Amino acid sequence: MIQNVYEVQLNPVGDDRGYLLPIEIGRKEVPFDVKRVYYMYGIPDMKGRGQHAHLDLRQILICVHGSCRVMCDYGDGRAAESYILDRPDKGLVIEGLVWREMGDFTPGTVLLVLADEHYDVAAPKEIRDYQAFLRKVNEEKMK
Ligand code: TYD
Repeated sequence: MIQNVYEVQLNPVGDDRGYLLPIEIGRKEVPFDVKRVYYMYGIPDMKGRGQHAHLDLRQILICVHGSCRVMCDYGDGRAAESYILDRPDKGLVIEGLVWREMGDFTPGTVLLVLADEHYDVAAPKEIRDYQAFLRKVNEEKMK
């Protein structure tokens, strides 16, 4: 069962005109093929996002503007981990069966996500019930 969360440093190119941040797929910053890109914005105060887990999706989250907190829970008794995304050159890779909750969005935040699978609107693969997530973690551990 894959469960992996880690921060990556992205490499902006800066000069007297500001910064440009290239992301090259397959290099170490994004170690998977990207099939989907989306971003969240216009998030009202006090609202959270996420609150689900994916079976085997690989994603990288980048707060390209503003900041937010990402809570990652492995569902196996380990303490949940909190990551602050507050720089456009910081990425958070989340792989596999991890319950994630995003919150503490500052006004105007834009959260960019790159993912390695398409989204099936007709049959989304995420687990949205926390108890079902815990059961799935247990089930996977038994394999
Ligand atoms: P949702 O998964 O609830 O967002 P969050 O990451 O905060 O949990 O998605 C919100 C809506 O957007 C939902 O109707 C499904 C749709 N959606 C897509 O159409 N494509 C996507 O790639 C994603 C992630 C969501």
